[in-house]
Amino acid sequence: MTDQYAVIGNPIGHTKSPLIHGLFAEETQQDMAYTAIEGPLEPEQAFADTVRAFADAGGKGMNVTAPFKLKAFAMADKRSERAELAGAVNALKFEDGRIIAENFDGIGLVRDIEVNLGLPMAGKRVLVLGAGGAVRGALLPFLAARPAELVLANRDIAKGRALAAQVSGRGPISTCGYGDLEAMGRFDLVVNATSASLTGDLPPVPPSVFSPEGTAYELAYGKRLTPFLRLARNAGVRGIADGVGMLVEQAAEAFDWWRGVRPATRAVIDRLTVPLD
Ligand code: ATR
Repeated sequence: MTDQYAVIGNPIGHTKSPLIHGLFAEETQQDMAYTAIEGPLEPEQAFADTVRAFADAGGKGMNVTAPFKLKAFAMADKRSERAELAGAVNALKFEDGRIIAENFDGIGLVRDIEVNLGLPMAGKRVLVLGAGGAVRGALLPFLAARPAELVLANRDIAKGRALAAQVSGRGPISTCGYGDLEAMGRFDLVVNATSASLTGDLPPVPPSVFSPEGTAYELAYGKRLTPFLRLARNAGVRGIADGVGMLVEQAAEAFDWWRGVRPATRAVIDRLTVPLD
C-alpha cells in the first residue's frame, strides 16, 4: 500500500512541500503520497485530533507549519534535543502508535550554507539577526558547525540573552543589541532570521557588519531582493542568498528520516528558485 504523508498548516495553499516531496519520491522511487491539509484553528484540540486521525488511518509522517509548530511539539510522545530547544517541531513520524517529533529547520539551514553555498562555518565569524522561533531552531546546528564566534543580535536584548544562555555550554555564543554592532567589525556570514522581511522591513543592522568576501543569507524565501539583501549588496557583498535552499534541505532531512534514503536536492532547489532580481 502507498505510504501516506502530509503537510499541515493554516493557511496551506502556498506550500511547496507536496511538490518537493513528490519530486524526492520520484527520484528515489518511493511508493508514497504526500498531500496538504488545512488544519483547523479551533476548537483547541481540533489540530491534535486531525493529526491523530491521519496517523490512525495509516499515515506515516507529517510536516508541520505555521501556526501549529508549538501544538505539534506539545502533543508529541518523544522529541529530539533540537526540537526541545526550539520548543517547536516541523516534522512528525508515527511509529507503533507513538508520535515522534523533530525540527529540521536549523539543520536544513546549515546544510544549505555549508554544502550548497560551499561555506563551511568552522572558524568563521557568524552574525544572526533575531531571536524568535527560527533562531531557536538553528542554534544547536549552528554551534555544532563550530564557528569561531556566533553573535546573536536582537532588538529585545533580554530575549536574545535568555536564548543564548540555553546553549552557552555548546560553543562560543554571545548576544548584543543592534546599536553594538558597529563596533564589532565584519562577519563572514550574516543571517537575517528576523520576521522583518515578511513585512518589507529592515532590521536596524549597520552595513559595517558585512564583508565583501562574505555571505548574507535571508531566511525568507521567494521575496526577491529584500531590504536586508539590498543592504548587503550595496555594501559590496558578493554572496547573497535567500531561504529556498533551506526549505528544500529541511525537506530532504525529513524525507531521509521517514524513508531511510536521502534525495538529491540540487535540481529541486533550481526548480523552486525565484531569481533575486
Ligand atoms: P516568535 O518570537 O513569536 O517566535 P518570530 O516571528 O519567530 O517570533 O520572531 C520574530 C523575530 O524577528 C524576533 O527576533 C523579532 O525581534 P524582537 O524579539 O526584538 O521583537 C524580530 N523582528 C521582527 N521585526 C523586526 C524588525 N522590523 N526589526 C528587527 N527585528 C525584527
